[in-house]
Amino acid sequence: MPFTPRVFSGIKPSGDLHLGNYLGAIRRFVPLQDTHETIYCVVDMHAITVWQEPEDLRRWTYEIAAAYIASGLNPERSIIFNQSQVVEHAELSWIFNCVARMGWMARMTQFKDKAGENSEHVSLGLFAYPSLMAADILLYKSTGVPVGDDQKQHLELTRDIAKKFNHDFRKQIKSLGFDEEYFPHTESMVTGPATRVMSLKDGKKKMSKSDASDMSTIYMMDDADTISKKIKRATTDPEPLPSEAAGLEGRAEASNLVSIYAALADRSVDDVLREFGGAGWGTFKPALADLAVSVLSPIAGEMRRLVGDKPEMDRILRNGADRARAIAVPVMDEVRQIVGFVR
Ligand code: TYM
Repeated sequence: MPFTPRVFSGIKPSGDLHLGNYLGAIRRFVPLQDTHETIYCVVDMHAITVWQEPEDLRRWTYEIAAAYIASGLNPERSIIFNQSQVVEHAELSWIFNCVARMGWMARMTQFKDKAGENSEHVSLGLFAYPSLMAADILLYKSTGVPVGDDQKQHLELTRDIAKKFNHDFRKQIKSLGFDEEYFPHTESMVTGPATRVMSLKDGKKKMSKSDASDMSTIYMMDDADTISKKIKRATTDPEPLPSEAAGLEGRAEASNLVSIYAALADRSVDDVLREFGGAGWGTFKPALADLAVSVLSPIAGEMRRLVGDKPEMDRILRNGADRARAIAVPVMDEVRQIVGFVR
């Protein structure tokens, strides 16, 4: 039975959206609408693996859904919804908790980073986080997952879970009429110049929702002046820009700003350096600030309008959840049969 080429991705409503989320994920979601069946989720169940104030969770959920649409996702074409409205995510993730091994989870670098010294005191949900992520993707038998570089390891684990499920239940899968495997192989789609956007203050640190310094992160809702100010005050080295990408080697901050420019302009890093090679930061930073404002400000404006229209947002999310459920329910019916649950 051929699998539908389907793309799934998600973003956690656990903080204000930033340029890394936009360039590493959302901006790349948009063109996939032309070539794939696309499902984009606001993963609220993942967000609560660490404490979230309920009011903030709700606000960020709307904000991400609004960012999807304001960035060019069309809710008629893409399925846009929040995870908790489709309970099958929780059900499949429980089954995957029983397929995945403790050792697999314990090796996840994101878990180790987040738990730090404190691993006895973090939630059980944080430990099982990648299992829920595998459920998100495989519930729709998705074969492509556009994400930033930091999610690669989670997607390897998704493949491991699919493989073990296919293997452990091979007899039942066969008797349901499937030749080889029930869950497909998923590819991470980590492409383009900005798969890892770094902090504006420290080129060795990833830009993140939880950075303590406001100046290191450009937020999607920042106004034009704030965006310009942050870019102009970004840490750089004293050298001018090189004429080709090789010249950025060992220059983390310079490399980050050029990559951001390239991603915002839909150009390659080499192409950007052909234009700016030899120029100083006094030339490049204002050009980058203008470009960032011209791309981000209209999106922020549209996001504000959308989050102000709750009935419309609720309608979009409910409709997305209905369409997601239409795919998820028959898959879960089969999974229950495969596992041996009596219905
Ligand atoms: P989250 O919410 O941390 O990030 C959402 C997306 O943004 C990307 N990203 C970045 N890309 C480039 N540079 C950065 N500095 C940067 N920071 C974040 C992330 O790689 C991600 O693509 N576990 C996921 C959410 C998730 C998911 C899924 C993703 C849950 N289920 C199923 C794909 C498929 C996460 O925490 O994303």
